[in-house]
Amino acid sequence: MTTQSITDTEQEFQLATYSKLDLAIVRGRGPWVWTAENEKYLDLYGGHAVCGVGHSHPDVVKAIAEQAERLMFYSNVVYSDIRAAAAEKLVSVAPEPLEKAFFCNSGTEANENAMRIARLATGRHKIVSFSKGFHGRTADAISATFLGKYRQLGEPNVPEHIEAEFGDAEALSAIIDDETAGVIIEPIQSMAGVREASPDYFTRLRERCDETGSVLIFDEVQTGVGRTGSWFFAGSEPAGGVVPDIVTAAKSLGSGVPVGSCIVSGGLAAAIKENDLGTTFGGGMLAMAAVKATIDVIEREGLLENARNIERMVRSVCSENVAVKSVRGKGCLLGIEFEGGARPFYRKLLDAKIITGMSSDPNVLRLLPPLNVAEREIELFGEALLG
Ligand SMILES: Cc1ncc(COP(=O)(O)O)c(C=O)c1O
Repeated sequence: MTTQSITDTEQEFQLATYSKLDLAIVRGRGPWVWTAENEKYLDLYGGHAVCGVGHSHPDVVKAIAEQAERLMFYSNVVYSDIRAAAAEKLVSVAPEPLEKAFFCNSGTEANENAMRIARLATGRHKIVSFSKGFHGRTADAISATFLGKYRQLGEPNVPEHIEAEFGDAEALSAIIDDETAGVIIEPIQSMAGVREASPDYFTRLRERCDETGSVLIFDEVQTGVGRTGSWFFAGSEPAGGVVPDIVTAAKSLGSGVPVGSCIVSGGLAAAIKENDLGTTFGGGMLAMAAVKATIDVIEREGLLENARNIERMVRSVCSENVAVKSVRGKGCLLGIEFEGGARPFYRKLLDAKIITGMSSDPNVLRLLPPLNVAEREIELFGEALLG
């Protein structure tokens, strides 16, 4: 099939809910993807922050194929060797005291379940979230999303969602109180244009949640699974070492096989009983094989270190471009702020066959490359940006 015929067919048979690039991608390997006409593109958007170990990593492909051959699915009604292995592996890379995983199928679903855990554990209803954070499109997650017009799309919203100003430590005392069940924060606000808060801010947030008995949730759908150069933002230096009560993860967790997770502290886990949460597909064998293999690859190939190195390189490359006002973010989640708008640079890079992403801030271009992108590939990006 040609790009044209693929485009025509999608447009004929799919609801037109996405703004798309004029590309039909049919194959991928590492940070590279190929179109139907066999044109090669460098994917510094990582398949929408999903392909953390690159496209179709051979070890992940092998693990999924072998699992599919052996057993494709059985629900949580039974125990499973691969689910046991994936849960153990995921918990092993999460900071203490996060020690129990719940598996679901997407980022929004992980956040829905995290907020439910907070309400069940505290017996309260109120959820605090932050200006310009994005948490997904299902009812509770979209109600916690105070970015652009997303929240209105979910009207009538779930009640008792309160907005706090991201990064404003002084506002926390008034807004998080004894009626707050949970506080959910995207610790680096990716979609908003890679907005960051200080380590002290996270420390104060943790303190305020402890003072009020509120459950602290880090939405690490984008920042998790090694993306910022540590396994999770939780517990890292930029977080001031703060570990929340729940971390949610999705996107690169399964390298493209849909999977989400809540990783919950031991103390909080004790408040959750049989049947409080559940989903048919959560913890399915293909997803679990993908999770286990993805984490193994990050570990074996030293990709946390590589993600930190890539950040240094991108910062250095950008320092040579006078139009770049700032580079924000950590590891392989970077926002490049351009004086007077990022769109021309996004187009220029695309013309040079390099895929990047825009954000809801028109001045900020986002890079979400695979964690194993090579220095040479960042050089290509630099040449295209400067050329
Ligand atoms: C921070 C964050 N949370 C939640 C979500 C929702 O994840 P999903 O699209 O898998 O439902 C996203 C998706 O972009 C996200 O970036």
